[in-house]
Amino acid sequence: MPAPREPLVWNERYATGVEAIDEQHMILVHTLNEAATKLAEDASVEHLDRITQDLLAYALYHFETEESLMQEYGYEESSAEEAAIHLAQHRSFSSKVVAVREGIKAGNPITPDELLAFLDNWLINHILNTDQRLGAFIRERQAAG
Ligand SMILES: [Fe+2]
Repeated sequence: MPAPREPLVWNERYATGVEAIDEQHMILVHTLNEAATKLAEDASVEHLDRITQDLLAYALYHFETEESLMQEYGYEESSAEEAAIHLAQHRSFSSKVVAVREGIKAGNPITPDELLAFLDNWLINHILNTDQRLGAFIRERQAAG
């Protein structure tokens, strides 16, 4: 038996130093914890459907925020490869959640444990690596005026 999920706790290592990004990441951390609590109470298909729908909507909104910052600061021009990797990770997350939602609709729902393990791992990895690199780039640009 895997250990039960521990709530995610915001950690200074997660901070990118870019306010808009960090605020939304904190909301995402909170959203995943809330999803875990809600799914522990009710893991019905309807509930899974609602939770994954809300989560996807917020994730897409958040990706748009980061991607407009990339545009604003010329990330693609300066770091084409890194920008492409970043966008691909956002797309791959969205596709995965869409596939999970299709599974739910098709009567083949993901288990809450599996869903939360995917979400936790993806978010923390993405924040600690890909978003940190974007944050460092934006801060450098901001400092350069
Ligand atoms: Fe990102």
